[in-house]
Amino acid sequence: MSRAIFGNIRLAVRAERENADATLKRVASLGLLDRSRKVLERGCYVEIPVTKSVSGCEMITQEKPAFYKRTPDLAEALQSELSLADLDLLPRGWYIQGSVIVVKIHPDLSRHQYRIGQALLDFYPRCCTVLRDHGIEGRFREPVRETIAGFKTETVHRENGVIFNLDAAKVMFSAGNLKERMRMSLLGKDEFVVDMFAGIGYFTLQMAVHSRPRRIMAIELNPNAYQFLCQNIRENHVEDIVEPILGDCTEVTPVGVADRVVMGMVQVTDRFLLKGIQALRPGGILHYHQTIPTVMHPARAVQDVTDAAKILGRRAEILRCVRVKKYSPGMVHAVVDARIEGAR
Ligand SMILES: C[S@@+](CC[C@H](N)C(=O)[O-])C[C@H]1O[C@@H](n2cnc3c(N)ncnc32)[C@H](O)[C@@H]1O
Repeated sequence: MSRAIFGNIRLAVRAERENADATLKRVASLGLLDRSRKVLERGCYVEIPVTKSVSGCEMITQEKPAFYKRTPDLAEALQSELSLADLDLLPRGWYIQGSVIVVKIHPDLSRHQYRIGQALLDFYPRCCTVLRDHGIEGRFREPVRETIAGFKTETVHRENGVIFNLDAAKVMFSAGNLKERMRMSLLGKDEFVVDMFAGIGYFTLQMAVHSRPRRIMAIELNPNAYQFLCQNIRENHVEDIVEPILGDCTEVTPVGVADRVVMGMVQVTDRFLLKGIQALRPGGILHYHQTIPTVMHPARAVQDVTDAAKILGRRAEILRCVRVKKYSPGMVHAVVDARIEGAR
């Protein structure tokens, strides 16, 4: 709701810490939470921003409210230039990789794409290029992207203390996998890890920088992505941990030695599952990524892992199923963590 509608943009409920969760739930269920401001902790009290007085609660006027950053609004910026129907089709979200903005644009707005690109650049002075995203294709899972403002597509993206050099027009970097990259950054200490689909080092580098495995074998087939992988290993100073390998994981994945195997591919990952499991020593951990119908989550991915283990005369103990993101209508990107017991 707009702040202007409600004169007092500092109105808040003051609740004692121990009652804060219950009060927050009540305020939200009444539809009175002001989502433009942050909930603040002040000593033994919590300030919950609201749009109107809430009966039965202690009301205050906040001395120092904290506002969420508002996503810039393309419709507002282009309202005098586009028809109402076109304004309605404008993208409401985009993501930023280093100095490059990546945006999906409705096909009916193609004639306005360069104007949209310029408007996005105006929002973010530190960015220099805007790419229109047309999806991902091919065995290398390369993005199909068109430059609609600026020209420089090589950039440096920083995330959780890791430097990723990449060319946003040529290699993918999934914003939706952020949580999974963060999860991987906490795993692998002192282990021998095999990353079968390393890309530019999405999981490998988070692990290497933060968890310091003994060794990571990072396998990548696409020479473009491999070149950035090598550069990123150097610039993150993990040459002593990560061994980059340009090759097909069906040919170069080792057998029976890994403590942990990351299979960060989607759609066709099941074709590589036997190789992934064979790489593990008894008791090693597998992270199997796959895209599956939402209604079959997580059973389908779990079944893939247990069936493949059985074929190899091994047993899979399912440790965790993670829903990484919605992939497409009716499909989710899932990860199954499994301990693989049994013979080498
Ligand atoms: C989907 S991308 C990695 C995505 C990444 N996990 C993320 O979080 O964004 C998959 C990578 O696997 C690579 N790849 C595909 N087939 C391969 C194979 N047989 N051996 C090694 N790498 C392969 C592709 O080139 C691509 O860089």
